Amino acid sequence: MSTGGPVNLRDVGRLVADRLDAGPHGYFAGGAGDERTLADNEAAFSRRKLLPRVLVDVSDVTTATTVLGTEIALPVLVAPVALQRMAHPDGEPGMARAAAAAGTIMCMSTLATATAREVAAAAPDAPRWFQLYVLRDHGVTHALVDEAVACGYRALVVTVDAPRAGRRERDLRTGFAVPPGIDMPGITLAAGHSAGLTPADFFSLVDASLTWKDLERLVEAVHLPVLLKGIHSAADARLAIQHGAAGIVVSNHGGRQLDSVPAGIDLLEDVVQEVAGAVEVLVDGGVRRGTDVLVALALGARAVLVGRPLLWGLAWDGEDGARWILDALRTEIERDLTLLGAPSPAHVTRAHVV
Ligand code: FNR
Ligand code: LAC
Repeated sequence: MSTGGPVNLRDVGRLVADRLDAGPHGYFAGGAGDERTLADNEAAFSRRKLLPRVLVDVSDVTTATTVLGTEIALPVLVAPVALQRMAHPDGEPGMARAAAAAGTIMCMSTLATATAREVAAAAPDAPRWFQLYVLRDHGVTHALVDEAVACGYRALVVTVDAPRAGRRERDLRTGFAVPPGIDMPGITLAAGHSAGLTPADFFSLVDASLTWKDLERLVEAVHLPVLLKGIHSAADARLAIQHGAAGIVVSNHGGRQLDSVPAGIDLLEDVVQEVAGAVEVLVDGGVRRGTDVLVALALGARAVLVGRPLLWGLAWDGEDGARWILDALRTEIERDLTLLGAPSPAHVTRAHVV
């Protein structure tokens, strides 16, 4: 008998679509320009076909793996997403508790509505990463990094595909601005306040002059592994390694930056081939199913990051909703590994995708 509740990630997205105000929902759901890349991130997975192998012992399947040496219960990380208290009062601390309970890593955004210290305190024993926007105010940037390092964040994820905001036309239509009562501590440090800012305002705080030389200096200064998020090309993946990156996130920012770029999953293979195992490669954009995760693993990703579905889970039921999303994905991945004939993420190979 149907319980009436959601049964997959897209159900939760539909559940919250009319619960959120138009401004916040448009900001969360929206992409850039004509939203071609936003749509293609999901459509690209439909173009990939999994090829099962049979008569493999799959009586004992695990979804567990490691990423940068950290054990995680499933090859899915929580993507850095801004303004989570705009989705639900549990916000980033609730997301951190959900990630900890699910046994995976949360990547916290510079544009979080909580401090790195508050998020760390929410799940002190859980592994977490800090996503950094290098701001024009380098004093604030250093303070943010120092706080993350002091609070035990295990890696820095420098986002490099957002020197300014993409053309977010849903936000133009709704006139979206950060609502009163919502504060991004990092932004307030740099701009004096958060409420009332538009995405163009807070993106204007990002240092658009950043180059590979600056990255090299950051890597030398910070005693944490540094991953680059927003790499699209094999050439930039090579440069990332040459300048000290410890990992790469192939990403088009969920289709929110330059519209018409390829889907994340379609960018992945060239980067994996160029990197040739020198560092781990992750991918994000449009992951909504366990099968999407398996396609990413088969094309060479160590793990994926998931963004909007976790926002929908948070908006639906706070920490419990975000936890539901991660548990639902893990259940799908476990079944999909079994049916693929792969007892673990490590057993998924390029031959499993046609
Ligand atoms: C993001 N993303 C993002 N990325 C980042 O590096 N720093 C950030 O602060 C944010 N903020 C943010 C807000 C919202 C509302 C969204 C939807 C996305 C991008 C995010 O980390 C990730 O790359 C994409 O969300 C992945 O695509 P899916 O899973 O949302 O399809
Ligand atoms: C965005 C920024 C915050 O995509 O990364 O809105």
